[in-house]
Amino acid sequence: MSTTSPTPIPGPPGLPLLGNIFDIDQKNTWWSLKTLAEKYGEIFQINALGHKIVFVASAALAEEICDEKRYRKFVGGPVKEIRYLTHDGLFTAYDHEANWGIAHRIIAPQLAPSLIASHFSEFALCTDELIAKWKALGANNTITPLTDLNRLNLEATALTLFGKKLNCLDGSSDSVLDAMEASTSEAMRRPNRPKLLNLLLSDSKWKKAAAVQRAWAQSLLDHRAAHPTDRHDLLWALLHAPDPETGKTLTPSQVIDEIVTMPIGSSTAPCALATLILFLLQNPSVVTKAREELASVLGDAPLAQEHLASLHYITGIVRETLRLSYAAPGFNIEPIPREGDTSPVLLAGGKYQIPHDQAMIIVLAGVNRDPAVFEEPLAFRPERMVGEAFEKLPRGVKRWFGNGKRECVGKHWAWEFLVVVTAKLIHGVDFEAVDGGYVLKQDGWFNVRPVAFKVKVKGRA
Ligand code: HEM
Repeated sequence: MSTTSPTPIPGPPGLPLLGNIFDIDQKNTWWSLKTLAEKYGEIFQINALGHKIVFVASAALAEEICDEKRYRKFVGGPVKEIRYLTHDGLFTAYDHEANWGIAHRIIAPQLAPSLIASHFSEFALCTDELIAKWKALGANNTITPLTDLNRLNLEATALTLFGKKLNCLDGSSDSVLDAMEASTSEAMRRPNRPKLLNLLLSDSKWKKAAAVQRAWAQSLLDHRAAHPTDRHDLLWALLHAPDPETGKTLTPSQVIDEIVTMPIGSSTAPCALATLILFLLQNPSVVTKAREELASVLGDAPLAQEHLASLHYITGIVRETLRLSYAAPGFNIEPIPREGDTSPVLLAGGKYQIPHDQAMIIVLAGVNRDPAVFEEPLAFRPERMVGEAFEKLPRGVKRWFGNGKRECVGKHWAWEFLVVVTAKLIHGVDFEAVDGGYVLKQDGWFNVRPVAFKVKVKGRA
């Protein structure tokens, strides 16, 4: 056994009783955590009103705590709060809740690569509609990419998973997007306020936002009931498929929980894409290379599912975007309880010690830009995300979709959407900076996106 004492986990000094509440901007938690990761490195801690939280920000430590034999997803803080909306649905279920397994076994097969590929034409259709909308704006336009990409994402989610064409690129479904924003922003704030203040300040808005999203889910069910179909999509599975292990099907309330969960999960993809547009503007040579690849793979043909596997450079662009946008900015981990053993948990071979029940948050802004792994970590270089170079990277820097059994169930959907939209945007339009000096600043709640980022968009001949 090592006799050297563990290294104290660093962190900002904080105030008596209040701890570090002034080190975290309540309106932009993830930006504060990114800043702290830049200052303290691989691990740091803060105290918020008597609760200690440990943050992991290096690839090696992230990988260590992704070991499912010792650690599991921690359902606490904002994730616990959002259970008000989604109960024991996929994203919010505690490790011990049997309904997670039932829902996972019903849902995961519908989001497997082969079924996602069968929706290619729907992804393509929605993306083409957005490009047509942008082309119709004429020469002197200014757009906020995130706004339109959020709508595109909702359009594609509703069509592919639930079989309903919303036609919402014009903003006609913004109320559900606003409600998602209200629920997730409030879920981030609630754990840091006394209960009474939550009740007084925001209870009616919180409840209303949940009601709007559940009503939206019900409208998709009503649409399916009014338009019977033999389409076997996710909605069909939620309504009819039995869990292969228990034979159980989902209850009507669980169906709503899972429908509501999906756009919240998928809303990470447009955040990544909006940031990608900035990376493309900053790296014109990347656009040139991507266009060369598209010309050689597609020729004069429109993009088709068969082309996607040959778009190696664009694959690199999407992976590099996931790395540098860290659109899903982190995820929560805790040690698996060891019966009768409350001794500290050792990290990095005993270099650090944490209490046996310590919640930890992986901060991907640190992990994904770990200087121990990447040369010039801030540079946007798709080449490092292709072929052997990508294979050689440690697993810890490829955690964009989370870990293990609680890894993103929508990752193949996300991948298809990201590749199709990236390829079509690079092929179909040119972006021009509105503010050439724009420096990436992100904010967000369950995902992070570029703040006030606007561009001009022009169709290509
Ligand atoms: C760029 C796009 C996306 C990224 C980066 C992303 C990232 C993640 C991450 C990191 C987790 C783990 C969260 C945790 O451990 O608490 C997760 C879980 C999840 N994601 Fe995604 N996601 C994306 C897109 C999607 C899409 C498109 C969907 C739905 C179609 C989706 C649905 C979910 C669900 C339901 C979970 C919970 C899974 C479970 O615990 O069983 N996500 N995602």
